[in-house]
Amino acid sequence: MASEREQKEQSEQNHNRDDEDLLHAGFRAPFKSFATEAIHVGQEPEQWKSMAVVPPISLSTTFKQYGPGEHAGFEYSRSGNPTRNCLEKAVAAMDGAKYCLSLASGLAATMTITHMLKTGDGIVCMDDVYGGTNRYFQRIATELGLKVGFADCTKPAKLKAALKPNTKLVWIETPTNPTMKVVDIRVCSDLVHEHNKDIVVVVDNTFMSAYFQRPLALGADICMYSATKYMNGHSDVVMGLVSVVRDDLYERLKFLQNALGAVPSPFDCYLCNRGLKTLHLRMEQHFKGAMAAAKFLEADPRVERVVFPGLPSHPQYEVMKKQCTGCPGMISFFIKGKLEHASTFLRNLKLFAIAESLGGYESLAEHPAIMTHASVPEKEREVLGISDTLIRLSVGLEDVEDILEDLDQALNAAVSTTTPVHLPCS
Ligand SMILES: Cc1ncc(COP(=O)(O)O)c(C=O)c1O
Repeated sequence: MASEREQKEQSEQNHNRDDEDLLHAGFRAPFKSFATEAIHVGQEPEQWKSMAVVPPISLSTTFKQYGPGEHAGFEYSRSGNPTRNCLEKAVAAMDGAKYCLSLASGLAATMTITHMLKTGDGIVCMDDVYGGTNRYFQRIATELGLKVGFADCTKPAKLKAALKPNTKLVWIETPTNPTMKVVDIRVCSDLVHEHNKDIVVVVDNTFMSAYFQRPLALGADICMYSATKYMNGHSDVVMGLVSVVRDDLYERLKFLQNALGAVPSPFDCYLCNRGLKTLHLRMEQHFKGAMAAAKFLEADPRVERVVFPGLPSHPQYEVMKKQCTGCPGMISFFIKGKLEHASTFLRNLKLFAIAESLGGYESLAEHPAIMTHASVPEKEREVLGISDTLIRLSVGLEDVEDILEDLDQALNAAVSTTTPVHLPCS
């Protein structure tokens, strides 16, 4: 629960915002000095002899020591790298964290976090997560002797029932990929920590980015990302990020990262660090484009249902507004008809590329059942609602009218070139 002072500050900030900015109506106020910190923290020119304003890409794998064991902060690039440092400092600030670690990929981050556990320990994972996370827990972690259970964390009672005496890790993704369920991070973190304060609550913040959601401020212990998505934002880097406040978690994760070796390249660190400088601008535009697209689809009779957490029709719309400062560009929707209609729609998109991944400046569309979530067993997909007519969009930064036009023409093609769907009043 927010204190009275926090509530007052929040309401003052909300009041100061542009009243006409309906897009953000009801959402949390933006995080203070977010853009300034993204641009300046960790980037100080004074850290380099050259006074470079843009952090250099430090490719050296090794660093000269003054004497044995006497170094200037770096020994070997797996253990630490100057370019990586700049990125990690910026991300820690953006997450309201004390520390950040950047890793070779989102899944490398998942693996490194999971290595904090030992044989017999239990993991409770949100029942609807990125397919690769599901695959890692079900097919790798269980092989290592970890006990993995799944629970629908949108229903706190189900999460509570899933906690066992051996539970050491709770893995939440919100909004979930691809069905966009929203989990109340504060409620779940408190519930888990009341059960056992030592259970580590992880939030996969990939879909939201640091700009729209701060899991650590909502009670989570670890905030992780596939930085491959919004954080880098340019679809040219595969990377993971992990932010924490606790010293013990940082020390353990830093040790594991070095021991396991899941580090990113200096060049990727440079690119991601650069991507962060425009995160606030990109996310605002993603929100604007996605809101327009979601409203357009929701009003279209060729669409069965739209799942976008920024629409009042979303089942957890209130939770979303309470814990986030806005919505990213992710929309899932069910097209009317069957697999062939979904397929024809996707094939006819001109601006949107049919491709996996999300969160880049370019609009992407995909078919989760055939593409990103094919590794989730069919029965589970059925339960989760990942059906043949489900389509996931990552709305990019193109002109909004062009995005809507592309969706419209592809919907037209899907309906006219296949068996007609019986549409009401059309
Ligand atoms: C929500 C989420 N978490 C984690 C991952 C894994 O990240 P990476 O592909 O960078 O390993 C992805 C990848 O799509 C994702 O969407």
